[in-house]
Amino acid sequence: MPSIVYSNLAQAGAHRSVAIDLPGREYEILIGGGLLNEAGRAIAQRLGKGKCGVVTDENVAGFHLENLEAALKADGRHKGSIVLPAGESTKCFAQLDRLSQGLLEMGLERGDFVVAFGGGVIGDLAGFAASILRRGVRYVQIPTSLLAQVDSSVGGKTGINTPQGKNLIGTFHQPNLVLADIDLLKTLPEREMRAGYAEVAKYGLLGDADFFAWLEANSASVLAHDTAALMKAVETSVKAKADVVIADEREAGVRGLLNLGHTFGHALEAATGYSQRLLHGEGVAIGMVLAFRLSERLQLCPAGTADRVAAHLKAAGLPTRIADIPAGEGAGSSHFEPDELIRLMGQDKKVKDGRMTFVLARAIGEAFLTQDVDLAEVRGLLSEECGALAG
Ligand code: GLY
Repeated sequence: MPSIVYSNLAQAGAHRSVAIDLPGREYEILIGGGLLNEAGRAIAQRLGKGKCGVVTDENVAGFHLENLEAALKADGRHKGSIVLPAGESTKCFAQLDRLSQGLLEMGLERGDFVVAFGGGVIGDLAGFAASILRRGVRYVQIPTSLLAQVDSSVGGKTGINTPQGKNLIGTFHQPNLVLADIDLLKTLPEREMRAGYAEVAKYGLLGDADFFAWLEANSASVLAHDTAALMKAVETSVKAKADVVIADEREAGVRGLLNLGHTFGHALEAATGYSQRLLHGEGVAIGMVLAFRLSERLQLCPAGTADRVAAHLKAAGLPTRIADIPAGEGAGSSHFEPDELIRLMGQDKKVKDGRMTFVLARAIGEAFLTQDVDLAEVRGLLSEECGALAG
């Protein structure tokens, strides 16, 4: 790792640096305020030569694209920018086609790189395009949502959605640098900030009870953009993610823990048509509570744990029950069927030999992976949850 170079930048702006030490694919995640203005210098120090194409969405472009382009144009790297529609539906084959052709038309060569400038949708899509463009070019992640800063921009998962489910088409392709500028979160809609917070809480719930207790005391400061609290939340989350990615880049085992709440969450997202009814982080919040309720139901975890999890997520303004999801247009109160949710859970790419992998917990901070779950118990839990909708 180029430690001298990155410590210069870290000291200059009180930025923090987390290293992903994957042999041959090392990179840093820089965390701090004002990093966007430093992007040109940070990229030059780490990527050396090469020009870039920026990929972003309409929302981010409106607030920040001019600043990023200015930072990149200053040293003549900027070849062009592609602005895509905002929203989960952009993560599809049609936009991948449009984006890949756009990057080729820009004249991006093998030694050039892509800059993914946006939330999880742009990061996953642009990362995927970078991984297949000319058989793979480098890319830089500049995540603009809390969710992307603490989760999706780190670790090299790229992909798109299909009607069969989320992220079922994609690659592992590590970025060459991640710039997590916490100042960019100030323009994030509050609902998205809260949705991203679910992924922050996830790291406490899966492996760090002290961090979860700290979040219980400090979530209001984190969500109010208090610099010190937000830095601690992002840095702790990124370090936790880095440890897991270094240990298991390709998700042969322990990386699966990062899917706490995601199997339930993805099914709920699919059932709500990946719409504004349920943001990804909101689905994860409900899913994490369900994972703890299932753990209690299976007598793996002390009674009351799931209520503590739910109380914290609720205090952070997140939905914690299926009943909290607003009804869709024309949908009655019974718009979720347990068997349909189980079918959608079975589309998860973590299914192995036809068996679903669950992330369950023995306590807060003690998550584990298992394929040994009786689906009758899952159905029972979901029936209770969906039954609550009618009540
Ligand atoms: N978001 C889960 C992972 O990166 O493995």
